[in-house]
Amino acid sequence: MSPSPIRRIAICTGGGDAPGLNAVIRSVVVAAINRGWECYGIRDGFNGILFPERYVEGGVFRLTRERVHDIGHLGGTILGTTNKGNPIHFPTRMPDGTIGEVDRSDEILQYFALKELDALVSIGGDGSLTIADALHKKGLRVVGVPKTIDNDLDKTMTTFGFDTAVAFATECLDRLHSTAESHQRVMVVEVMGRYAGWIALHSGIAGNAHAILMPEIPFDLDRVADLIHHRDADGHLYSVVVVAEGAAPRDGHTELQAPAEIGHAERLGGIGERVAKALQERTGKDTRVVVLGHLLRGGSPTSFDRLAAMRFGAAAVRALDEGLSGVMVALAFPNVNYIALEEVAGRMKAVPMDSDTLQTARDLGICLGD
Ligand code: F6P
Repeated sequence: MSPSPIRRIAICTGGGDAPGLNAVIRSVVVAAINRGWECYGIRDGFNGILFPERYVEGGVFRLTRERVHDIGHLGGTILGTTNKGNPIHFPTRMPDGTIGEVDRSDEILQYFALKELDALVSIGGDGSLTIADALHKKGLRVVGVPKTIDNDLDKTMTTFGFDTAVAFATECLDRLHSTAESHQRVMVVEVMGRYAGWIALHSGIAGNAHAILMPEIPFDLDRVADLIHHRDADGHLYSVVVVAEGAAPRDGHTELQAPAEIGHAERLGGIGERVAKALQERTGKDTRVVVLGHLLRGGSPTSFDRLAAMRFGAAAVRALDEGLSGVMVALAFPNVNYIALEEVAGRMKAVPMDSDTLQTARDLGICLGD
């Protein structure tokens, strides 16, 4: 039996924000309205449904053509987002005072039934797509859209947000080159990338870094210090090192700001400082650290990300129109395609060791710390 026709859909954004979220929202809303559907936005992941009392103007609100007019170029998300509210494992204070997990997904399904919402477009990273998969398996019609600046989602050539993050990091590296050279310093630049080094690798090559350290390749700082010594000996008295927040030394561990808790992943950060200190000790050179952190998540999406976001949004609506559910829109150059959410949920895309981009870094003499 073919699924009933769509009349009303809801959209939510989950996890860390990324440039392009608003472009997806606009694209979904316009493509849906052009089919005669109504659109609603859920605030802050699913909090708009789970905690309606928090929102004076309603936790779920109508998205009209006017409401999404002129938002495609804006960073952030007009819906708000959260990386704390997984409804399947919702952190809740238990009767004994401890924090435990409660599955609140039925409340979401009940809300959709009550408000006669026919489907959900869930825009997010691995966490949000895993939730989307679980909701689909409970009977909700769901299409996922892959988002993350980290580009670590499997089964799509790229996620939107990544290109903007790389472009900004590259611009920062360009700026840091001149100051590093002027002061004959080592400049260590920490970029996001919890478990994958895509941002570090791509911006590092594009921004002419001399060393790139990433989670996929445990590093040895003696290798990096050797490179700096060689550069000095050749008369290049400065060096630029890019390090992903999730990179770790061969014999060490990642730098944690805060451990994982129920409903929240661990928070990384601090490896740049550690690398800089160690390189200063090993080379005797003046060393500085710049942490780009959340700057990489802000700003206007590049035209590549804007277009990817708009293609994803329109394709998500087409998927629902064609009766699909439980799929993620993916980029399989030159077109978009649909991948089952369960093939994506819980999977991470690290930089493959046989990637030609990685090989490019090696061919250019960039030190990868191994
Ligand atoms: O997943 C994207 C990301 O930017 C990671 O690289 C980073 O570790 C994380 O978000 C930080 O998230 P927040 O500080 O917002 O919790």
